[in-house]
Amino acid sequence: MTALVHTRAELQPFLDGFANGKRGVVMTMGALHDGHLELLKQARHDCDLVVATIFVNPLQFGPNEDFDRYPRTLDDDLKLCAEAGVDVVYAPAVEEVYPGGQPIVKVTPGPMGEVLEGEFRPGFFTGVLTVVNKLLNLTGPDMAFFGQKDAQQLALVRRMVLDLNMPVEIVGVPTVRDEDGLAKSSRNRYLSPEERTTALALSRALFAGQEKATDGADAVREAANAVLEQASAASGLSVDYLALVDPRDFSEVPSTFTGQAVLAVAARVGTTRLIDNLPLTLSTHGDR
Ligand code: PAJ
Repeated sequence: MTALVHTRAELQPFLDGFANGKRGVVMTMGALHDGHLELLKQARHDCDLVVATIFVNPLQFGPNEDFDRYPRTLDDDLKLCAEAGVDVVYAPAVEEVYPGGQPIVKVTPGPMGEVLEGEFRPGFFTGVLTVVNKLLNLTGPDMAFFGQKDAQQLALVRRMVLDLNMPVEIVGVPTVRDEDGLAKSSRNRYLSPEERTTALALSRALFAGQEKATDGADAVREAANAVLEQASAASGLSVDYLALVDPRDFSEVPSTFTGQAVLAVAARVGTTRLIDNLPLTLSTHGDR
């Protein structure tokens, strides 16, 4: 049985009940799908108590973004949490997470939070890290699970935990995709059937890039860009960025780079903004 609680006081008995066990948290904004399910399953596997949080965080949405229309599907979310064996869903009100109103003290992400998503969504990662910090304080877990789908978010959360000596283990979970490659996302609900077809260009570009990983960074960028350019010309795809970055700081890698990299893309299809990425290992023929 999955319990639903809305306040910290209601959550406390669950945390107390597992004071000596491993407590895990999966943070979400709801509108749950198979990507979230994978995080919940991993948490169920690794932990004695699994807490899922559902909170659409106003602090991470820009003034012209989709906070108001973000899908809110609590009943369906609860069913999916029950299916995954979640012990308790914590869905706090804005007033509980932000008791002082708009926070004065926030967590700033530094340079890694100013590129890619941070460049196109100013203040986004401050909002994310601040709420992740708050939700860690409110749920007190031993482990917290985040998706590779949001690679820059995952890297920044890891870095926050390291830099602020936070006593929690961060676990990354690989991206879950539809069969045709589209990464699962709550925002996929916004797409019309035609837009969904257009959106496939994101994952196709990443896979085309990945195929060139043994030819070096420039070959990867070229192959991925070719797919995106074709889709932009043929349909309403508007690319915000394609980047091949070092996962340690999300800076663009030089042509000669070898080793672990992340190929990341963001694009708009109609009014919907989508992101995706693939981890890959760069080598050149010489050092394969
Ligand atoms: P949300 O977009 O709901 O995602 C919640 C978690 O699910 C994140 O860790 C995200 O990376 C993961 N996730 C989403 N789609 C996935 C997919 N296709 N495969 C694997 N994991 C996936 O990310 C957020 O919410 C918020 O920023 C949050 C961390 C909750 C802070 O408000």
